[in-house]
Amino acid sequence: MLTLDFHPTGRHFLQIPGPSPVPDRILRAMSLPTIDHRGPEFAALGLKVLADIKKIFQTKQPVIIYPASGTGAWEAALANTLSPGDHVLMYETGHFAALWQKLAARLGLKTEVMSHPGADVWRHGVQASQIEERLKADTQHAIRAVCVVHNETSTGVTSNIAAVRRAIDAAKHPALLLVDTISGLASADYRHDEWGVDVTISGSQKA
Ligand SMILES: Cc1ncc(COP(=O)(O)O)c(C=O)c1O
Repeated sequence: MLTLDFHPTGRHFLQIPGPSPVPDRILRAMSLPTIDHRGPEFAALGLKVLADIKKIFQTKQPVIIYPASGTGAWEAALANTLSPGDHVLMYETGHFAALWQKLAARLGLKTEVMSHPGADVWRHGVQASQIEERLKADTQHAIRAVCVVHNETSTGVTSNIAAVRRAIDAAKHPALLLVDTISGLASADYRHDEWGVDVTISGSQKA
């Protein structure tokens, strides 16, 4: 039977990307009384968090924080940059890349799925050369965005995001680059600005 208030003693130590182990000092801070969400302390804290979080993404751009699952962040990224009927190129590297594609299709986007040629599709990261070739063939620039998963949690395969940006640039294509780094950020190297990513999605529940 499912026990909802089950809290085992000691530290749960499982070396997978998530749920993230929360440091003790953070757990202790969460047991303090709630502060006034309209008070000056909360405003100052919020501004500090919004400024400091940029370092994690290696960006000078504003980062938006809001309550949702990673799936909610996928949806927000697509809904705020694209419109139903838009053509998006998605690269399947594993379970999460496949789920993102399903969500995009439900939003009414025209999804085109690419994957590593041959068998064992989920054993490989994104092949940037395939993306470059496909974008070069899209002379009318119908493809509005390229969506890739940085670290595919289901397989542990990490893709080279800088190479994907170089491929888009080499094809002289205006498509946006959308990256899910939900389990990559803060564990693998990630550089939003330097790699020329247009939208980076992450979550606090993973790495
Ligand atoms: C790479 C990746 N993308 C998306 C998600 C979906 O996040 P959530 O389960 O919070 O909706 C996960 C969750 O494991 C993930 O690892």
